[in-house]
Amino acid sequence: MKLARTVAELKAALPREGVGFVPTMGYLHRGHLALVERARRENAFVVVSIFVNPLQFGPGEDYHRYPRDLDRDAALLEEAGVDLLFAPEVAEMYPKGFATRVQVEGPLTALWEGEVRPGHFQGVATVVARLFLLVRPERAYFGEKDYQQLLVIRKMVRDLGFPLEVVGVPTVREEDGLALSSRNVYLSPETRKKASVLYRALMAMREVALSGGSVAQALEAGERVLGEVPEFRPDYLAIVHPDTLLPLSRLVPGARGLVAGRFPEARLIDNLEVYP
Ligand code: PAJ
Repeated sequence: MKLARTVAELKAALPREGVGFVPTMGYLHRGHLALVERARRENAFVVVSIFVNPLQFGPGEDYHRYPRDLDRDAALLEEAGVDLLFAPEVAEMYPKGFATRVQVEGPLTALWEGEVRPGHFQGVATVVARLFLLVRPERAYFGEKDYQQLLVIRKMVRDLGFPLEVVGVPTVREEDGLALSSRNVYLSPETRKKASVLYRALMAMREVALSGGSVAQALEAGERVLGEVPEFRPDYLAIVHPDTLLPLSRLVPGARGLVAGRFPEARLIDNLEVYP
């Protein structure tokens, strides 16, 4: 595996075609590696980026303490058969005077994470657009774990005509259902035991929906589960259309449950298809 720390090194190491790309912020876990494995199967050459993107963190968020371990990440990626790791410094991605932002407008970025984290998706879209132009992949891989992010990137790619396919990869979970996340390292052992409450709330909504319940009944069931863990302060619990993310009043195939909120040590998010 080659390591590129600059745009020039990246350009020198890229092949003409056949590139599959997995953008990440590092501190890799089995969720990231599922994206890498899928990319490995479908592309002749796999590029992974590791870049903790300051543009997508709000003031008071965890940019400075976001976990980082490039040596460990590089070893995992080498093992996974990655061809090229791009790990630039901030000044390389955003040289002095960098002033451009990519903004996907509308409910896709205004609702849910967009409401709780103003500017977040603009930061994500800006860095991903810049990475796409640098890496020029044929396919790019994103986790369903960040379902709203996946839809925002799909929309940006369609609107701006990036010549690539966006591939969504199912969420990888711990045994108790907790979605793997780099931020799970923030959790104390006591909180870790309670952190599966997001998944359990989503599963409760799914069960009600599958057994013929209404959206309102499913939401009630989810809220009941969340209520059993008072340390978890929900930002939202919703059942939404899988393409628009608008709240549903009646279940449609593919309806998605969304949940996010804060434990004392960390903010967690999750989602699940609640009505196949
Ligand atoms: P990061 O949180 O490092 O995630 C990188 C990719 O891994 C994202 O597409 C995310 O959805 C996926 N992922 C994370 N946990 C997962 C899990 N448990 N199962 C499946 N996939 C999972 O998301 C970002 O970084 C950034 O916003 C980025 C897109 C790199 C732009 O900065």
